[in-house]
Amino acid sequence: MGRGLIEGKKARAYANKGKSKRTKIFNDFIVQNITLGTKIKVCDLCCGHGNTIELLKGKVGEMTGVDGSSEMITICKEKLQGVKLVLSSVTSTKLKSSYFDYVIIRNGLHHIKEKEDVVNEIYRILKPKGKLFVIDKFYTNLIMCHLTEIFDLLFKFNPHYLNHYMISKEATLSLFKKFRILKEVYLKDQKQKGIQQYMYVLEKV
Ligand SMILES: C[S@@+](CC[C@H](N)C(=O)[O-])C[C@H]1O[C@@H](n2cnc3c(N)ncnc32)[C@H](O)[C@@H]1O
Repeated sequence: MGRGLIEGKKARAYANKGKSKRTKIFNDFIVQNITLGTKIKVCDLCCGHGNTIELLKGKVGEMTGVDGSSEMITICKEKLQGVKLVLSSVTSTKLKSSYFDYVIIRNGLHHIKEKEDVVNEIYRILKPKGKLFVIDKFYTNLIMCHLTEIFDLLFKFNPHYLNHYMISKEATLSLFKKFRILKEVYLKDQKQKGIQQYMYVLEKV
């Protein structure tokens, strides 16, 4: 399924980490840019322990969470009822085509090397003119992009190495060629130099 999954004890630790300042910024961005209502169908890809699901549950008609980690899905099931939870890689799901009004992928994309497959899958499951929220980070330092590629080659056969696969801003934007950018917000990452966090609202065209 890929190296980026957060499984077992690491999933529990991630879920127990507590909310950071960024969590509020991301939540506010989603709430301010989404139309809520009983007819709205939302899919949260790489849902992890379900923080985005918790944020929107009960405010939209249908909420689906997808994660490739069985432990993350178990954690979601323990605390969330009334949502559909799917254990699957987000590169290829069995979800219906042209079904969702919104797809959200928050801090998931940088865990996955096969980003084009994820974006194609998102395009498939979104309704025409459906919206995509991407919250993630890219390298502003191009040397880091090259180093990621080199490490990926060197450690190809070690499934536990390199569970992040971050790319540049240009490469990120070119992933979304089939979408129209409605909103783009960039945050400075205080902790890690050479990395920038972004929040996009994109429309399927
Ligand atoms: C950093 S967590 C983010 C979780 C949540 N969206 C959040 O913002 O807290 C990344 C999640 O992506 C999941 N993941 C990584 N690669 C995946 C893949 N190929 N298919 C499905 N889920 C994947 C991991 O298991 C993990 O739960």
